[in-house]
Amino acid sequence: MRLHIAFLCSFLAFCLVVAVDHGNFKTCEKSSFCRRLRGVTPGSSPYALVAGSLNTYSDSVVADLINKETNHLFTFKLEAIKSNTFRLLIDEKTPLKPRYKVTDALKGNPLPDVIKAKEQNKGEFVITSGPNKAIIYADPFRIDFYQNDVLTVQANAKGLMRFEELRRKVIPPQVNENEEQGNENGQQEQSQNDANVKDLTNEDPGAWEENFKSHHDSKPNGPEAISMDFSFPQALILFGIPQHADSFALKHTANNGDPYRLYNLDVFEFELDSRMALYGSIPVLYGHGPEKTAGVFWQNSAETWVDIYNSNAEKNVMSSIVNFVSRSKQNDPLSGHFMSESGIIDAFILLGPSPLDAFKQYTDLTGVANLPQLFALAYHQCRWNYNDEQDVETVSAKFDEHDIPMDTMWLDIEYTDGKKYFTWDAHKFPNPLKMIKNLTDLGRHLTIILDPHIKRDAGYFVHNECTDRGYYVKNKDGSDYEGWCWPGSASYPDYFNPEVRKYWADLYQLENFKTVTADVMTWNDMNEPSVFNGPEVTMLKDNVHYGGWEHRNVHNLYGHMNVMGTFEGMHRRDPNQRPFILSRSHFAGTQRYATIWMGDNAAQWGHLEASIKMCLAEAVAGHSFCGADVGGFFGNPDVELLERWYQAAAFQPFFRSHAHIDTKRREPWLFGEATKQIIREAIRKRYSYLPLWYTMFYEHERFGLPVMRPLLAHYPKDVDGFAIDSQHLLQDRLLVRPVMSAGVSKVDVYFPVKENKKPDIWYDIDTYQKYDVSGFVSIEVNSNKIPVFQRGGTIIPKKGRIRRASTLMKNDPYTLVICLDEIQSAKGTLYIDDEKSYKYRDGQYNYIEFEFKQNLITNRFIDKPNYKTKSWLEKIVIAGLKSIPKTATIKSDHKTENLEILIENSAVIIRRPGVSMTENFVITLN
Ligand code: NOJ
Repeated sequence: MRLHIAFLCSFLAFCLVVAVDHGNFKTCEKSSFCRRLRGVTPGSSPYALVAGSLNTYSDSVVADLINKETNHLFTFKLEAIKSNTFRLLIDEKTPLKPRYKVTDALKGNPLPDVIKAKEQNKGEFVITSGPNKAIIYADPFRIDFYQNDVLTVQANAKGLMRFEELRRKVIPPQVNENEEQGNENGQQEQSQNDANVKDLTNEDPGAWEENFKSHHDSKPNGPEAISMDFSFPQALILFGIPQHADSFALKHTANNGDPYRLYNLDVFEFELDSRMALYGSIPVLYGHGPEKTAGVFWQNSAETWVDIYNSNAEKNVMSSIVNFVSRSKQNDPLSGHFMSESGIIDAFILLGPSPLDAFKQYTDLTGVANLPQLFALAYHQCRWNYNDEQDVETVSAKFDEHDIPMDTMWLDIEYTDGKKYFTWDAHKFPNPLKMIKNLTDLGRHLTIILDPHIKRDAGYFVHNECTDRGYYVKNKDGSDYEGWCWPGSASYPDYFNPEVRKYWADLYQLENFKTVTADVMTWNDMNEPSVFNGPEVTMLKDNVHYGGWEHRNVHNLYGHMNVMGTFEGMHRRDPNQRPFILSRSHFAGTQRYATIWMGDNAAQWGHLEASIKMCLAEAVAGHSFCGADVGGFFGNPDVELLERWYQAAAFQPFFRSHAHIDTKRREPWLFGEATKQIIREAIRKRYSYLPLWYTMFYEHERFGLPVMRPLLAHYPKDVDGFAIDSQHLLQDRLLVRPVMSAGVSKVDVYFPVKENKKPDIWYDIDTYQKYDVSGFVSIEVNSNKIPVFQRGGTIIPKKGRIRRASTLMKNDPYTLVICLDEIQSAKGTLYIDDEKSYKYRDGQYNYIEFEFKQNLITNRFIDKPNYKTKSWLEKIVIAGLKSIPKTATIKSDHKTENLEILIENSAVIIRRPGVSMTENFVITLN
């Protein structure tokens, strides 16, 4: 279907402006549970703690909660978790059926922390845990979370909590006549409970069953939605809850269009500035203000909508911030209202206090992106499709011919035999092993797509095995669910079943998939799952998964379970190398298994801008390894857009060019010499910074902090910088503000201010020109320029010898770039290991800190150096020195030597220190 539209578009000029078909997707108004929950009036909570029911344990309190309107009882638990985190759990006390609880999102059991509990006034319970305190108000039920006595987060302060109690369906006589024949339960119940009969007739028409377009949702459990509001009294900006093609700062949505939607969907030609759902859903919301950052992780995998209350927001967020500063913080705090279709209330309150603390609290719960193989951080070349073996070979050879580094070639769905994954098209790819060897001999890799929809073809072994073993997701009647995707009729393995995950992992084993090698990496696409003929292009909500759970409960986790299986398979296939997996669908915790990207963007300047905004939102939600299709998936970028896209993506974590099958070929050499040189330079620049990327990803794994960061992460008091999402930081070392509009000769770069209101010193990475200013500065750009700045006070490791693939640069020497701060000092780290295996987890790595202080350059091994690298220190660049040294002397374990000093641009260069990266040294400047 999409192929069809795309074909049309390639012939019709007006299709160049891509546009989503809104009619294919629900608005909140079209979704019964969103309508119901959004209709709740603030300030009228019917919930209260049952007097005398609160019990205290070492790490938690547990009590009964009652809905005073229905007298229905709930179990409430508040648990303290290390560090600075609370967990709030609410479930029905005796539900008609168990309600779904998310599995596999958390990396393990959160570590409990000790609490003290006391009743301070009647109906007011104070729970203390370290510097944190929660005051539970019994009636109406509400919890205020404090840190060091500062009110930081409030749960249910607006009274929007609702917990729809599971009920039996009762058919009122007038509705009963035609449509509900045969519902014996209903008939039976009718006489037993007249109150419910009345309820039903007054209920939202979609409460017990719902239609969308031609699709029917039978809702066997009826209404079972839940919701809760969370306020952030200290916040001036809310952010998080990816994936949306919107600004980093969340907009005011309450009574203002739709809420942000979290429901993993394949949205054809998605639009910008939109709250519509996309491929991934991560229900973590942060509130940040100059004094505090806090977050709420709403652990729920059902369809979820989040309304944002920012009543002072006018046209844009900047103005809302300015307005907010002048108003009382406590009166009308920024809030988020989570509304989920099913499950239980399970919310983690992350109390910061700093942005980095809150981000770390989130990754402490859900995990980090594991250190990738180095090649995965290098440049990837993809398109839908490289047509055959010859095509792959030629493209790879052309990269060499044009001296452009490239690490990975990708194959999209057309390499398969009729979209049957784990097979090859025998005509176009008769000898995949030879093709793979040709690539790996050059130091390159191949990544192939393996989608989760399985072609229903009696001659296809995967289909036969899944059918025979009952591995497919089921229809509500227990038969195998059948949908439509690339292969035509397809079914979908139920990855929630551990046996199915094991089976999926088995498929990756070389004894089963004989036409690949252990060096071939994986792309799992369409795993929302995408079902072309399903409601909203996905699966029916009343489909049934392992354990009898309806799809409704687990939808946002489907892709996560898919890549869990893939990870298991790739890890088992070769336990000595770190799997690389790209996934389109993602949920909280997917970062432990896969890299993600922004899906089907378009060749438009706005989509280039969106790549930063969207990756920033993902990064604070645990997904540091993130990128967008370079050049834009749909449409043909003009050369300027393509050049600028390469430049921006060279400073984003996942760097892959990709394009739709109907687009023109766009390999870097196809646009003339000038464009080729610009793209070549951008890619080469990426390769020169690979030691930094690798170090940053190691530190991400070790310390749990995002690699790509918003300004507020390091400039938490710089209110003017909060909402800026046209630039980003890489850790606190680089500030990246790519050119993202056509025909410009200048860009405005925002240099933030520190807590003492002073700016840092920043150095242009090409010229070492110094910027010791704050606020917006207009910077001149030519077509080669990528405005990137290194912070004074940092030392960045680089490599100067760029080769055809990163794997060939392993033993190459390093350069250190030292940018000095106002007190003429700097620090930085470098991480080195074999760039491929897990041996670093047994200590085989070198993690080095470098320091410049009082004209001495020293190194220190943070842990015992255990990796015998052949690489050595080739060059040191120092920017910002107040006086030029006359001599530089190195003293190491094996030599004392005077070094040559040069001046280039405004930097001092120290040539060939010549020490191994495993030895200690001191360089003295005089
Ligand atoms: C959709 C993906 O988003 C896109 O990147 C891919 O090329 C197509 N599926 C075909 O596999």
